[in-house]
Amino acid sequence: MTELTNVTEAKAIKVPTLPDAQTVTSVTHWTDRLFSFRVTRPASLRFRSGEFVMIGLMGDPHPETGKVKPLLRAYSIASPSWDEELEFYSIKVQDGPLTSKLQHIRPGDEIILRPKPVGTLVHDALLPGKRLWFFATGTGFAPFASLLREPQTYEDYDEIVITHTCREAGELTYGAELIESLKADELLNEVIGDGFWKKIKYYPTTTREESAKKGRITDLMRSGEAFADLEVPALSPDTDRAMICGNLAFNLELKEMLEGYGLVEGANSNPQHYVVEKAFLD
Ligand code: A2P
Repeated sequence: MTELTNVTEAKAIKVPTLPDAQTVTSVTHWTDRLFSFRVTRPASLRFRSGEFVMIGLMGDPHPETGKVKPLLRAYSIASPSWDEELEFYSIKVQDGPLTSKLQHIRPGDEIILRPKPVGTLVHDALLPGKRLWFFATGTGFAPFASLLREPQTYEDYDEIVITHTCREAGELTYGAELIESLKADELLNEVIGDGFWKKIKYYPTTTREESAKKGRITDLMRSGEAFADLEVPALSPDTDRAMICGNLAFNLELKEMLEGYGLVEGANSNPQHYVVEKAFLD
């Protein structure tokens, strides 16, 4: 006798592609806390280097209704405005609602990207100046990864100082490699001018591990050590412009210091001497 079984044909459930979905093209894990990834760029997306967009994944289904909602966070675009793909630099937080999942993406996966770029870390928010300072902690390096590859940065300023403070030396690698790669970037050297990268003064520091320079950038500026190392005078509203992107305590402390040097905070609608944005933390 033939046994009758109730066979249900297994059908692959096709998850509908979201209208704002983009495809992951590459992922690089820098440390157990940091990774970067690149995704396709919507053809219609225009942005200014330094801006951010909302990106994310679908959240878990609601325990009762089963409904799923997008889980989105603000991420600075780390790639420049001319790049055909979009790059992001992210922290991995093991119990973070988004990054606990996002850290597992692989090439070919989709993420949600709302194509509405905004932000204050843009050239338009600053008055003309001689020296541009980028102050970052941790993943706050991301908007500067964009601006360091933006020709306007070098057209508008004689000198670019980038400071990056992280807990450990390994957390500096993404930024250090990016800056190093500018030297060999044939396209940028051709477009901006051969040796454009000589305008950059890079000042990486660590706070919880030995490295070439130990200490918080704020303390190193207060003591004058940072200016001596960089061979530049302390900031002045006559010559210096600044962009800040880090954790909240850092942003507030540095903002107060810049005000102390006489710099005034600017915005898109009112360009001044410096601008601030909070780095994404989840
Ligand atoms: P520290 O190790 O002394 O706290 P986080 O990973 O917590 O966002 O920190 C990134 C880096 O920013 C760390 O090196 C941290 O130093 C530094 N940092 C945190 N708060 C401040 C602040 N108020 N001023 C300067 N650096 C700070």
